[in-house]
Amino acid sequence: MGVFADMSGPDTGHEQLVFCQDKRTGLRAVIGIYSTVLGPALGGTRFYPYASEDDAVRDVLELSRAMAYKNAVAGLNLGGGKAVIWGDPQEVKTEALMRAYGRFVDSLNGRYYTACDVGTYVADMDVVARETRFVAGRSVDHGGAGDSSILTAWGVFQGMRAAAEHVWGTTSLAGRRIGVAGLGKVGKHLTAHLLDDGAAVVATDVDERALSWARATYPQVDLVDDSTTLSRSDIDVYAPCALGGALDDETVPAMRAKVVAGAANNQLAHPGVDKLLVDHGILYAPDYVVNAGGVVQVADEIDGFDFERAKRRVTRIFDTTQQVIRLAETEGVPPGAAAAWLAERRMAAGA
Ligand code: NAI
Repeated sequence: MGVFADMSGPDTGHEQLVFCQDKRTGLRAVIGIYSTVLGPALGGTRFYPYASEDDAVRDVLELSRAMAYKNAVAGLNLGGGKAVIWGDPQEVKTEALMRAYGRFVDSLNGRYYTACDVGTYVADMDVVARETRFVAGRSVDHGGAGDSSILTAWGVFQGMRAAAEHVWGTTSLAGRRIGVAGLGKVGKHLTAHLLDDGAAVVATDVDERALSWARATYPQVDLVDDSTTLSRSDIDVYAPCALGGALDDETVPAMRAKVVAGAANNQLAHPGVDKLLVDHGILYAPDYVVNAGGVVQVADEIDGFDFERAKRRVTRIFDTTQQVIRLAETEGVPPGAAAAWLAERRMAAGA
């Protein structure tokens, strides 16, 4: 396969792709560095049983590029990177393997900082930290910031307020009906913020435990059967907080919400959905703009975590979302395109 061709991409392309193998532990990892123009590359480690080496490489290329854009728009002085460990974490993840991985991260001498992603957890980052200081997402007991969902939810709430101001002329969500799809770590905290602000919440989840939590904690929350029902219901704001691909060619035309702002990564099933939302009069607050609270927290950990400072930084997601919406309006482009343009402009200026 042509790795350099794959690394070239539609824009500036990736800086570096590092293949790591440790025969003793069975580790096979690929670290992708998209850009270090704004600072060391930051992005999590995905531990996943890819069907093929090509799939693993493709994923690390896409994910590291996405991190560069996310970090740039969030105003962080950090570049974008990501790593994948190829294998089933249930079967092959051991302390020795994670330590071997930590030594590879260390060998890059600070060009790449790692953190958690799908298949890796704070306990794993504590292990990685025995081999390298270029790691965040550790547990509080090990000097880390711990669970990032609190600040992620806070950031989504800020992004939603900015979108509300644009559509309804007020940042308050009081009296609005918000549909939260996914009452997981982020969805739960988001629900609390929305109720505090005077909004009505209607929600769904596939996990009965999450629904029981909602019934017991917030009996005023209306629960519906599934996310399709939720997205078509009479809501003002749709907040996808579960998996990616929530917005597609079928969902969008059937939606009644005027705003989409949620935590889930990769909400657009394909890039054309950005424009489809505009055509249906729906304001989309881009996923990686409003869900940057987690990465802002991780970045803050690199400086020695301070919750209040991190929260202040996450609160700025309100201003960034406003900036993206205004740029989209003045340039006549969908918000996703405007966010990408902002990221590219920042990376170009930092060069
Ligand atoms: P989580 O795993 O705690 O929660 C996800 C919830 O969605 C679970 O309760 C699950 O049962 C539910 N769910 C899954 N499929 C569903 C479906 N089809 N319909 C309705 N509910 C469904 O994850 P978490 O941490 O709350 O993250 C939510 C989303 O936000 C994910 O896409 C994640 O990648 C993204 N995100 C999370 C960040 C964080 O700091 N936790 C940071 C940035 C993005």
